[in-house]
Amino acid sequence: MAFSTALNARLKCATPILQAPMAGGGDTPDLVAAVCAAGGFGFVGAAYLQPAQIAEVCRAVRQRTRGPYGINLFAHMPAPRPDDVAAALACVTPYFDELGLPPPSVPDQPHPDFGAQLEAVSQSDASAFSFTFGQMPAAAMQSLKARGIFVLGTATTVDEAIALAHDGVDAVIAQGAEAGGHRGTFAASFDAAMVGTMALVPQVVDAIRVPVVASGGIMDGRGIAAALALGASGVQLGTAFLTCDEAGVPEAYKRTILAASETDTIITRAFSGRPARGIGNRFMEEVGAAAADAILPFPWQNALTRPLRRAAATAQRAEFLSLWAGQGMRLARRQSTAELMRHLIDDCDAALRHLSRHVR
Ligand SMILES: Cc1cc2nc3c(=O)[nH]c(=O)nc-3n(C[C@H](O)[C@H](O)[C@H](O)COP(=O)(O)O)c2cc1C
Repeated sequence: MAFSTALNARLKCATPILQAPMAGGGDTPDLVAAVCAAGGFGFVGAAYLQPAQIAEVCRAVRQRTRGPYGINLFAHMPAPRPDDVAAALACVTPYFDELGLPPPSVPDQPHPDFGAQLEAVSQSDASAFSFTFGQMPAAAMQSLKARGIFVLGTATTVDEAIALAHDGVDAVIAQGAEAGGHRGTFAASFDAAMVGTMALVPQVVDAIRVPVVASGGIMDGRGIAAALALGASGVQLGTAFLTCDEAGVPEAYKRTILAASETDTIITRAFSGRPARGIGNRFMEEVGAAAADAILPFPWQNALTRPLRRAAATAQRAEFLSLWAGQGMRLARRQSTAELMRHLIDDCDAALRHLSRHVR
């Protein structure tokens, strides 16, 4: 039996299991549609997409499902172009050589224009919008909400959650330290904001009035039951979906997750310039050990390493892939999205029944 909260009623789906947006190709339209078909809520991670590509992906999702879905962007203030990129270029050149690529360069436009991306979101038929890395400009927030779009912001501390609630978000995603991918931190130091999901969620729940979505390290029905017990109104899972058949990451990435354990991830800036959790590999270790000025700030480092990551995906070379994944990896399974969703729903139900048997 699918569990239900006020959140899924607002999102108009059967159960409050959100598939995390996974910018960079993990969240294919097939994955998003399969999550929707199974009663969850799928997100398109559109942060790296140009407006026309956002429109294209939304059309592809709509061809596959009539259900509701959401779009996600990075709400960050891009760092200005660094004056000196020589050390960063020198640091990655050997890897470009190893993969037979032309010498690396830093593009003038490292990231799509946020305003244009937002316009594409407004033009789409997505019914929810989520963001991470920051706060939304007030006018953008108002315009999304005026269109009836349900807005979710990402927080990694209680103060960030309060700031987002003050801005008018409809729900806050509380991202614990276990989470795979980039840290959403925007108003604290990255180190201080490494608060585990178990500690973060109830403190955020107590601090704000809007629904809280727990995210980070949740891989199965037990994790969902625990999040609900902490007061969350829903959950957002990323890593659990990455090894599904419909996920768009290279096979080498899926195989690495399936062979990895809870101690195998590290927080790194090596690929993108912004701290993110992923499975440690050669690139992360070697570039991570380089001098601080050899890694550019986000999004410049991300743009610098993009050709390398693309070539590595084609060549199935996991040592050069940004293997974003959370600490719950041992619980990842190779399966279809429909199977994963069925397990999540049934196992959460079983966990809740199991717990209620112990209540006298
Ligand atoms: C491969 C990958 C890509 C991600 N990309 C995004 C993204 O584009 N936007 C976002 O808000 N969160 C992104 N995240 C973070 C997720 O929203 C979420 O916090 C995280 O997956 C939860 O932890 P888990 O992986 O242990 O389930 C990403 C996570 C992963 C694993």
